[in-house]
Amino acid sequence: MLKDNLEKKIKELKKKRNAVILAHNYQLPEVQDVADYRGDSLELSRIAAKTSARVIVFCGVHFMAETASILCPNKRVIMPDVNSACPMANMITAQQLRTLKMQHPKAVVVGYVNTSAEVKTELDVCCTSTNAVAVVNVFKDTKEIIFVPDKYLADYVSRKTGRRLIPWNGFCPTHIKILPSDIKREKGFHPKAKVIVHPECLPGVVSMADAVLSTSQMCKFAKETQAKEIIIGTEVGIIYRLKQDSPRKEFYPAAEAAVCPNMKRITQEKIVSALETLKEEVRVSDYIRRRARKAIDRMLEII
Ligand code: 13P
Ligand code: SF4
Repeated sequence: MLKDNLEKKIKELKKKRNAVILAHNYQLPEVQDVADYRGDSLELSRIAAKTSARVIVFCGVHFMAETASILCPNKRVIMPDVNSACPMANMITAQQLRTLKMQHPKAVVVGYVNTSAEVKTELDVCCTSTNAVAVVNVFKDTKEIIFVPDKYLADYVSRKTGRRLIPWNGFCPTHIKILPSDIKREKGFHPKAKVIVHPECLPGVVSMADAVLSTSQMCKFAKETQAKEIIIGTEVGIIYRLKQDSPRKEFYPAAEAAVCPNMKRITQEKIVSALETLKEEVRVSDYIRRRARKAIDRMLEII
């Protein structure tokens, strides 16, 4: 089907199903084009929690749809491709976290939202890349803080807060593709450009940045900065939105190889099919939902 026809069909089906389409900032342009809202993990969770739509079509990776389902148990959360998974989220299981907790029985457990719902049941509080520093700062009087699963986000938060964290050995396979030599090369090509990077990047990359930001913070920064050129140290899909928001500015990917294949699985065709069949539904059991929700709610209360 032609793009125009697909977009028309999506509009009709959305109305018929009383659905809202949420898309992460890394989604393909064709998906961003039909989204009602684009955002980072935190923004999309907040939107999901507030929407009055009956159906949420989640265009992102599995843990994001799970988070929406935890926050909206009475809505039907569907993924146009349920196999869109986050490899970092799959680097820790609930059993592995329980074992780590046994080794540090007094520790507060902070977990990145990039975790499964089952892992979230073991957390004291959740965080995203937007609020990780603020969340850790709440625990001023706590001696030990476990931080899972991203060791590079843990390193960044530890530097910003001055707290020693107990990390897990997880990482994002996409962000580690961006190397310090990439930043050096791009800065050489574009000496006036500002460098913004995601905190999932390698510490050597983070230390070369003008600002370390979540994806939506990057969108805000790009709109507000006086700089005309910006080097982007994150998944390349975000550049579509940045360019739409600020057509007169130039955005250079720090590394073309920084592509998250899981974020690219969803297409307009798959959205049509999801709206027609209302599948695949992402739902967590009531037992897991109630326990995982505590950690998410605690985060939402902090920031
Ligand atoms: P953001 O919350 O910054 O969008 O990050 C999500 C993610 O998966 C980054 O790789
Ligand atoms: Fe997960 Fe990395 Fe993809 Fe984000 S970019 S969804 S952290 S694999």
